[in-house]
Amino acid sequence: MTEEIVKSALSKVMYPGFTKDIVTFGFVKDINIDGTSVSFTVDITSSAPEVAKQITDEATEALKAAGASNVTCNIKAPQMPKESSSHGKNIAPQVKNFLMVSSGKGGVGKSTTSVNVAIALAAQGLKVGLLDADIYGPNIPRMMGVADVKPEVNGNKVLPIKAYGIEMMSMGSLMEDGQSLIWRGAMIMKAIEQFLRDILWSELDVLVIDMPPGTGDAQLTLAQSVPVTAGLTVTTPQSVSLDDSRRSLDMFKKLNIPIAGIIENMSGFIAPDTGVEYDIFGKGTSQPMADEFDTKIIAEVPIEPGIRTGGDEGKPITFAAPSSESAKRFTEAAASIWATIEEINANGGVDNQSVQPTTPPGVSACSTGGSSAAPQSSGGGCGCS
Ligand SMILES: Nc1ncnc2c1ncn2[C@@H]1O[C@H](COP(=O)(O)OP(=O)(O)OP(=O)(O)O)[C@@H](O)[C@H]1O
Ligand SMILES: [Mg+2]
Repeated sequence: MTEEIVKSALSKVMYPGFTKDIVTFGFVKDINIDGTSVSFTVDITSSAPEVAKQITDEATEALKAAGASNVTCNIKAPQMPKESSSHGKNIAPQVKNFLMVSSGKGGVGKSTTSVNVAIALAAQGLKVGLLDADIYGPNIPRMMGVADVKPEVNGNKVLPIKAYGIEMMSMGSLMEDGQSLIWRGAMIMKAIEQFLRDILWSELDVLVIDMPPGTGDAQLTLAQSVPVTAGLTVTTPQSVSLDDSRRSLDMFKKLNIPIAGIIENMSGFIAPDTGVEYDIFGKGTSQPMADEFDTKIIAEVPIEPGIRTGGDEGKPITFAAPSSESAKRFTEAAASIWATIEEINANGGVDNQSVQPTTPPGVSACSTGGSSAAPQSSGGGCGCS
C-alpha cells in the first residue's frame, strides 16, 4: 500500500449529501500505512452520527477493494450541541437546565444572587432565562431595571421581558404596581406551572429560578414540574441564617436535586472609600455546613454599597461594574455553577420521577386540603392530574 493508493481509494467516498469526495474536501488527514494496514483521520464538519457511519463504511469498503487488510478510520466530528441529559417530567422542554436558587431565610440576597449569577452566565455566552418565582415578593423586575415594562401577550402565552441579555418573567410584571394578592397553596402551584408552561421562553441553556424563602409548595411544585439540574443555597454568615440554610440544603437532598454550592453573601464589608474589607457578620462560617452536605462555598460576596444601589436602580453590579470585587465573585460563582451543571449532564443528568405525587388519580395531593377548597384550580395546580 502507498499513500497514493489510499488517497485514490478514498477519493471514491463522497461526503454524504454532496457531490464532492472527502479527499477533495480536504477532510482526510494523518494517513498511516503499515504493510496492508491503513489508518487515517477524517475531520468532518457534521456532528450527525449517520454521516460518520456512512463515511467509515464506504472508506473501509473502498480501501479493502484496493488491497488493504486492516482499516482504521478515525472520525473527528464537532461536539453535538449541549443537551441536557435529564429525565422525568418537564413541562418546559425547551429549557435544557434549571437552577433553583433557595435560602432558608428571607432577605439574605437570593434575588440579588439570582440576577447577578444569571447575568454572569449570559456573559459566558449561554442563553439564560431568569424566573422570579417569589410570588409574594417579586423584586426581580426592579433589580433588572424593567419595573415599568409590561410583557407582550401572544394568544394565551406571554413573552418574557428582555434585559441585560437575558429573558425574565415575574409576577411583578403581570400585576399592577403595589397590588398584593393572597395566595393559597394550590394557587402558588398553579402560578409556578404557568410560569413554566405559558411563558414563551426561548431555547435556553439555563433558567435561573429565584425562589421564595423557605421550603414549601413552590419548591415542591417546581421540582415536580421540571427536572431541576442543580440547587444553589444563599446564606449569610450568622448562625441564625445558617440554621435555616441547612433546611434549604436538606430540601435539595430530599428532592434529589444536586447541590451546585453555597453562596455566602454579606460576607465581610468592603468600604467604598478605602476598599478595605471588614469582617462584620463573620466570614467563612458556612464551611462546616458545606462539608456536612458534601458541597462547597462557591463565593463569599462582601457587603458592598454598589450591590444595593445596583439592585434599587435596576443596574446589577455584574453588568454595571464588572471589575468590582462583588462582580468578580458572582462571575466565579457562575463559572463554577455551569461546570457543575455540565458535570451533572455528563453523568446522566437528573430525574424527577421519584418526587412525583404518588396519590391515586382523583385524590388531590395539594397541601391546602383538596379541590373543594380551591375549585378553580382542581387537578391542575399540584402536579397531580
Ligand atoms: N452583598 C450585598 N451588599 C449590599 N447589599 C446587599 C447585598 N446582598 C443583598 N443586598 C441588599 O439586601 C437587600 C435584600 O436582598 P435580596 O432582595 O436579594 O434578598 P432576598 O433573599 O431575595 O430577600 P427576600 O427573601 O425578601 O426575597 C436588597 O436591598 C439588596 O440590594
Ligand atoms: Mg427575593
